[in-house]
Amino acid sequence: MDIRSVLYDATQDLEQMGFATPRLDAEVLLSRCMKTDRLRFYAHPEETLTEEELQRFRNWVERRRGGEPVAYIIGQKEFWSLPFKVNNNVLIPRPETEMLVEAIIRTYSPGDFIQLMILEIGTGSGAVSVALASELNNVRIVATDISREALSVAVDNARENGVQRQISFRRGSFFEPVSEKFDIIVSNPPYISEEAFEHLPPGVREFEPRGALLAGTDGTAFHREIIMQGAPYLKEGGRLFIEMGEGQKDRVIEIFKESNLYDDIIFIRDYAGAERAFSARRREDIIRG
Ligand SMILES: C[S@@+](CC[C@H](N)C(=O)[O-])C[C@H]1O[C@@H](n2cnc3c(N)ncnc32)[C@H](O)[C@@H]1O
Repeated sequence: MDIRSVLYDATQDLEQMGFATPRLDAEVLLSRCMKTDRLRFYAHPEETLTEEELQRFRNWVERRRGGEPVAYIIGQKEFWSLPFKVNNNVLIPRPETEMLVEAIIRTYSPGDFIQLMILEIGTGSGAVSVALASELNNVRIVATDISREALSVAVDNARENGVQRQISFRRGSFFEPVSEKFDIIVSNPPYISEEAFEHLPPGVREFEPRGALLAGTDGTAFHREIIMQGAPYLKEGGRLFIEMGEGQKDRVIEIFKESNLYDDIIFIRDYAGAERAFSARRREDIIRG
């Protein structure tokens, strides 16, 4: 069978299943399957697939029909224009999380620090830490996760992107694996409430790791823990940069008020205009040592 007809059949098939981007999904699956660029499909639609390619492609389309995200099927996702290996032990990095990387880069100019020390909590695929290390060469990052399997993916991604010397990966919950002080604590923590979890698209609910998504009854359990426990791990003038869900701002403000440990609290909008993250500075008059 040639490229034109397999793409046509797969697109029809996925469209009938109600997927939002059936042609794109089919092209991405086929390009990975044939280890080629999508442009080739337009330049040479008459080329035929080998029997092995056809079998693999049909198998992948079948998995997609079952709702599995394309990134897990091909084992890869792009973040910050860098390639990341992904599997079902890690959250698929989302484009809106790039805004955390952007906010940090905007706040710190390379000349300001001899060495910028960053702690990332819940690194997953390593997307945020690897992107930061690729942009800031005077940075030392400690990236943690509670999941051993996720850390093994993150280590591979740091190596593949050539930044393994800047990041040390540690396993543990929240601040358990660290004793140092940092200029920045960054995290895209789980922030889905139990109720919202039931309404997630099936591709997310059934395939992405629950431990990367669920965060208590109102989805701010991780924010609370990081805000309440994080201050002693920040240096003077150190800042938190944390992603949150839409509609969690009021709850986050309450937690900050309760903690009384930070000032200069700023909410950061994502590309769609939603307040999606916040940054705050450790208060100097409150904490010593
Ligand atoms: C929403 S995912 C974010 C992954 C990645 N940073 C990203 O933005 O794509 C949250 C991550 O936090 C990890 N995690 C969950 N509970 C944790 C805990 N108590 N301590 C540290 N990491 C935790 C999960 O395993 C998961 O990898």
